Amino acid sequence: MSGPNTEFDPKQVAALSAEAIDAMVQAAVEAIASAGDLDALKSARLAHAGDRSPLALANREIGALPPAAKAEAGKRVGQARARVKQALDEREEVLLRERDALVLQAEAVDVTLPVQRTPIGGRHPLTTLMERMADVFISMGYDVAEGPEAEAEWANFDALNVPPDHPARTMQDTFYVESPNSGVVLRTQTSPIQIRAMLERPLPIYVVAPGRVYRTDELDATHTPVFHQIEGPAVDEGLTMADLKGTLDHLATQMFGEGIITRLRPSYFPFTEPSAEVDLQCFVCRGASVGDPSNPCRTCGSEGWIEWGGCGMVNPRVLQAVGIDTDKNRGFAFGMGIERTLMFRNGVTDMRDMVEGDLRFTRAFGVDA
Ligand code: DAH
Repeated sequence: MSGPNTEFDPKQVAALSAEAIDAMVQAAVEAIASAGDLDALKSARLAHAGDRSPLALANREIGALPPAAKAEAGKRVGQARARVKQALDEREEVLLRERDALVLQAEAVDVTLPVQRTPIGGRHPLTTLMERMADVFISMGYDVAEGPEAEAEWANFDALNVPPDHPARTMQDTFYVESPNSGVVLRTQTSPIQIRAMLERPLPIYVVAPGRVYRTDELDATHTPVFHQIEGPAVDEGLTMADLKGTLDHLATQMFGEGIITRLRPSYFPFTEPSAEVDLQCFVCRGASVGDPSNPCRTCGSEGWIEWGGCGMVNPRVLQAVGIDTDKNRGFAFGMGIERTLMFRNGVTDMRDMVEGDLRFTRAFGVDA
C-alpha cells in the first residue's frame, strides 16, 4: 500500500476549486436550459453528466487529494452533480411534455372531415340474378355445370341436331375462332353444356348451366353481342312435358312471385321435339290489353304474353348422338336469357344499361355481395 501523497500540489487540482465547479455547473445548467428537444438534451447530458464530462473528471481527481481535502471536495462535486442531475430531470420532464403535446396535435383526427371512401364494388345484377336462378334449381336437386366459352362447333351445333346449312351457323350469326374451318366457335347458346353433361355424367341427369354466350349482334336496346343464358337438361326414365312445365312454373314463381302465369307455345328447335316457347303472362296488363285498342300495353305490345325462353323434350337424335339409350330415357330441356329476365323482373328497358358499366345503374340494385 502506498502512503499518503505528501507531495501533493494543490495547483494541479484547480479543477476542484469552488469557482471551477461552479463554472462547470453553470455551463451545464445553461446547456441544459437551451436544449430545445430530447435529442439536444441527450447531448447535453453526455457532455455535462457523462463519464467524460468535466464534473466526472473532477470527481476522479478527488482520490488524489490529501485526506483532509477529500471530504470537502467530495461534497462540492457531489452537490454539483446533483444540481446538474436535477436540471437534467426537470428539463427532461418539460421536453417530454412538449413532445407528447406535439404528438397529440400531429396525430389528432378531425372526425368531422369528409372521408376519402374507396368504393368496395359490388357484383353486377346479371351475375346475382344468374346465381339466384341457378339456386332455384339447386334447391330442386340439380347440379350446376359449366362449359367453355370457346366451344367445339360440334357441341354447339352438330350434336344438337343443327344441320350444316342452318343459317345460325353462318358468320353473320356466329363468331368463329380463327376461321370458319377451325371447328371452334364462341358458343352461341348454353345448349352445348347439355351435350357435355350428357357425355360426362351418369344417368339420371339434372343439370343447370348458367353462362355467357356470343352472337354477332350489334348492341342496341334489345340486343347485345355478349349475353347470358341459363340452360337445363334433365334426362331420366319417364320424364314428360308435364315435368318440364312444372319445373318452369316453379322457376317463374321464384323469379316473379306467386300468381305469375306461364304458357307453352308450340315452336321449333332442332334439339327438341316437341319444342315450345315459354311465355309469361304480361305482368303489366295481365292480358287486359288484348283486343282493347283503347288500352294498349307497351310491355307486351298488347299481345298479353311475353316470350321468356325456349324448351322442349330433348330430341332423341340428340340423346343418340351422346350414346343415351332412348328406349328407356327421356329428356326435357329449356334455355332462357338472363338479360330478358332482368328486364322483366326489374323493369329495365334498355339492354345497353346492363353492359355500359355505369355505377348509377348497378347501384340501384344495391351492393349485393
Ligand atoms: N338454345 C336456345 C336459344 O339460344 C334456347 C333453348 C331452346 C334451349 C330450347 C333449350 C331448349 O334447351 O330446349 O335460343
